[in-house]
Amino acid sequence: MSSQGRRAGGALVAAAVALVCLSLVLNFEVAQARIRKPRTYIVGGDKGWTFGVGRRWPVKKQRFRAGDTLVFKYAAEQHNVLVVNRAGYRNCKAPANATSYWTGNDYIKLVKGHNFFMCGFPGHCRAGMRISVKAAK
Ligand code: CU
Repeated sequence: MSSQGRRAGGALVAAAVALVCLSLVLNFEVAQARIRKPRTYIVGGDKGWTFGVGRRWPVKKQRFRAGDTLVFKYAAEQHNVLVVNRAGYRNCKAPANATSYWTGNDYIKLVKGHNFFMCGFPGHCRAGMRISVKAAK
């Protein structure tokens, strides 16, 4: 092999190594994105769990995953949080045995699919205190 041939071969090996490294880095980043750490969201942002919250939150760009946590912040004597299904959400009607939270600082983990929550105080759900959050796997 001529010295020129050796040089070209060396360059080829270097290029191949660079390519393998690049693909490893890209693969790693894709894997990282897929297994992103669970996130925590304050329901309603600065205003918290209040009247009309469901009309402005979640904002469109938010993407939820199962395992993310919603934090409901509110005055404990004035509101609560009930976990309901789609029908409960739509009709503002929670079953008597609905899972409920009432500390004013409730941490609720999202499950895969649709997650529905409403306030159980009379009239509050109709006044917009209900949210629907869809969580990906
Ligand atoms: Cu309420």
